[in-house]
Formats: sequence, structure tokens, C-alpha cells
Amino acid sequence: MSLLEIKNVSINYHTNDKTVYAVQDVSLTVEEEDSVGIVGESGSGKSTLAMGILRLLPENIIETSGEALLNGEDIFTMSTEELQKVRWTQMSVVFQKAMNALSPVHRIGKQMEDIYRVHYPDEPKENITKRIYDLLKLVNLSDRVYMSYPHELSGGMMQRVAIALALIFEPKLLIMDEATTALDVVTQTQILNEIMQLEKNMKIARIMITHDMSVVASTCKKVVVMYAGRVMEEGKVENVLVTPQHPYTKGLLNSFPSFTGEKTNLKGIEGNLPDMSIYPTGCVFADRCPFAKERCHKEIPQLKDYGDNWKVACFLKEEGGNINE
Ligand SMILES: Nc1ncnc2c1ncn2[C@@H]1O[C@H](COP(=O)(O)OP(=O)(O)O)[C@@H](O)[C@H]1O
Ligand SMILES: [Mg+2]
Repeated sequence: MSLLEIKNVSINYHTNDKTVYAVQDVSLTVEEEDSVGIVGESGSGKSTLAMGILRLLPENIIETSGEALLNGEDIFTMSTEELQKVRWTQMSVVFQKAMNALSPVHRIGKQMEDIYRVHYPDEPKENITKRIYDLLKLVNLSDRVYMSYPHELSGGMMQRVAIALALIFEPKLLIMDEATTALDVVTQTQILNEIMQLEKNMKIARIMITHDMSVVASTCKKVVVMYAGRVMEEGKVENVLVTPQHPYTKGLLNSFPSFTGEKTNLKGIEGNLPDMSIYPTGCVFADRCPFAKERCHKEIPQLKDYGDNWKVACFLKEEGGNINE
């Protein structure tokens, strides 16, 4: 059994006058100790998918279908009590703006203790305090952070506190949603290296949500490429990021500078995301795709497995074409 199995998940937002098809028919699997990157431009539905499977979206404005099995149990149909048992203890999340999760008027250590006490109300105070100091150490923060207020910490320190909080109940799955995006590259690299060490020691699996291919390349085993709410391509990092099979993946890779190659102009992808409140009639990428043919505008390509768990949703690929030739 896989740790997390997302099956045909769709999530729509219902706002006043329209429906936004934010996530459409997404399936993905996370094994124990796995690391899966979810990459795509801003607006692709990455955060909606993550918040959806954590059931942290406002449930009155969304409509969810499909299944999200955590150790075989569907998160979508869990009762609130069951959900409270698994959220933070089996899966947890770190957001980009960790600061927002904390109260500005209380000391960091006190807030962490309060969170811990929710799950362990009978634990003696000194045990809890020790646990919090241990956690701070785990994420390379000094003891003095315990007595600090959020505004006294740098961005990197705040993200470390957020990671410590996410790990407080030793979950098996950690979801990081652009959690290091706002940091300078040096701090980002340090934190990413520490995270990889931590998950090795604690046997944690990670879903890494980012728009940055280099973060996926350096920290993940598998990658899922999303565009306009759908999966375009997925597979092992050494396959997908080396010889991408979907024109969108290739476009994304070309949008980042190469460190070793010659200096070239960045070839971004022309155009913008489609209007996500219009249900697509064809491939969501067709309007921006240099390879698009008539069929691509009329039919939605399915994600097909080409072996080695390498999946691509593209008619060109299906018909035997190759974008790398
Ligand atoms: N609360 C909301 N109400 C309506 N639409 C939303 C809401 N949150 C996100 N969206 C829309 O859902 C789509 C996916 O957004 P999001 O999941 O944030 O993408 P990403 O994380 O990849 O940038 C976008 O079109 C966005 O405008
Ligand atoms: Mg997002």
C-alpha cells in the first residue's frame, strides 16, 4: 500500500458568478520516504491540490471529486474527528509565508507548546518544553528562538520554525508549498539540504510544490508537471527533467538559465494560462504549444504510461512524435 494515493482528483471553486476548474483529474502516488515535486507556473492548481488533500480549503466554496487515500483511508470522506487525528500527525504542511500561521504577540516557544498540548493535554510541562527545545535544535535554531517573538526572526529562521512545527508530531508525509521560495538562494539551499537530511533520519516522505525546476531537480526523486489544473507529464526526475516528452515541460525547463551551458536568451513560454473558468475542449496547453495540431484543440489528451512510470498527456507523443528531435 502506498503512503498517499491521489486518484482522479478534481477540485472546482464556486465563486459568485463562476466555477473555476482549478484541479482536473489529477492522480499521483507517494510512497514511504518518497520525494515528489509538483511543478508548474503560478495558477496551475498546485496549492489547490495540496490544500485540498489536507482539507484546508474553505469547503463551502469548493467541490471535490476523486479519492485521496492516506494509508488506504480516504481523506475526503473522513469525519472531522478522524481528520484531526491524521492532520499534523501523519501529514503536515509548510507554506510560503510561515509568519502568517503564528501570532505576533506570543513568544515562539509558548506557541509551539500550545500546539503540542492540543494533542497531548496530559503531558507534563517540562516534557513539552524539552520537546520544543529539541525541535528547535533539529532545524538548526538556537535556544534563544524559544523566547523570541515572530518579528524578531529573519525569513529563514521563520521558515525553520514552520518546519519544526510541521514536524512536531513526527508525520510520515510533509508537504512544502513554495516553502523556501521567498528566501535568498544561500538560505534556501541550506534549508533544503537540512530537510533532506531530516527526512532520511525520520523516514519522512515529501511533496515539494514549487515553480522552480532546479529545486525539484536537486531535492526530488519524482516530478509531476502541472499546467492549468492538469498533469502534463510525470515520472522520475532523471527522465522527465533530462529528456522531457511534453512541450510544456520542455518550455518550463527552457525558462530557466543553464549553469553549465553557454549564455542564451531565456526562452520563456509565450502567452498566458487559459481562463480556468472555461471548461477546456482540448489540450489546455494547445494555445501556447508550438506543436499543436487541430486535434489538440478538439480533444483532451489522456495521461498515458510509456514505461518506467513515465506518463505524458500529449497527442504528439501518442502518435509517435518526439519534441526532442
Ligand atoms: N479561493 C479561491 N476562489 C476562487 N478561485 C481560486 C481560489 N484560490 C485559487 N483560485 C484559482 O484556482 C486556480 C489555481 O490556483 P492555485 O491552486 O493557487 O495555483 P498555484 O498554486 O499553482 O499557483 C487559479 O486560477 C486561481 O485563481
Ligand atoms: Mg500556489
